[in-house]
Amino acid sequence: MQSTDSLRNNRQEHRDFLNKFYGISRSFYDFTRKYFLFGRETLHNQLLKEPWERLVEVGPGTGWNLRKLHNARPSSSYGGLEASDKMLEFAKERCPFAVFRQGFAEETPYEDLLDEAPDRILFSYCLTMVQDPHKALERSVEQLAPGGQVVVVDFADFQGAPFIMRGGLRRWLNAFHVTPLDVSLLTPFTDDITFGPWHYFVIARIHKPA
Ligand SMILES: C[S@@+](CC[C@H](N)C(=O)[O-])C[C@H]1O[C@@H](n2cnc3c(N)ncnc32)[C@H](O)[C@@H]1O
Repeated sequence: MQSTDSLRNNRQEHRDFLNKFYGISRSFYDFTRKYFLFGRETLHNQLLKEPWERLVEVGPGTGWNLRKLHNARPSSSYGGLEASDKMLEFAKERCPFAVFRQGFAEETPYEDLLDEAPDRILFSYCLTMVQDPHKALERSVEQLAPGGQVVVVDFADFQGAPFIMRGGLRRWLNAFHVTPLDVSLLTPFTDDITFGPWHYFVIARIHKPA
């Protein structure tokens, strides 16, 4: 088990990395990510067919998802928990309708960001960057309103991709501190798991009983 000091140092290193990485790339982030963060719009379309009132995104980045969802459903409340100060600055400016907090998915509370606990918690291409994704999922289920759902879209295991591409994709993502999701991370929480073509991305939903 890691000591509190070493955890704090790890978190600070992660935050420093994110600030450095996104400090440079945040202004062209949305333009470039539409070519490889697939599945996000599929998830938006699914979400917009369901009833929910309070959505918190963990790792909202530039606020791209929050803005799209808010444009389509302005009557709902929106919040974001973000580890990177640089992304947070950007998202706050872009999404004045939302409430944000700086913090880490594994330890920072966010159930009190909105008037009541969120009935949707969204992880969109965030879990593959957090240092302890199991802990982040456990924390999210604890903070979810009864009857709510945690929804995840992220890189999967590329099982269906041509063999020579698989290693290349993994190495390229690792260079950005991204570790594609292993389905064994999700199965203790849910069996509501679907994959995109080539197992490039996964969409998973964790249902909390009412
Ligand atoms: C690849 S970006 C995805 C941004 C956005 N969700 C999207 O779909 O475009 C990952 C985001 O997660 C944030 N992040 C990484 N580790 C985190 C953590 N432990 N807790 C909260 N946010 C984190 C990063 O700073 C970044 O904004």
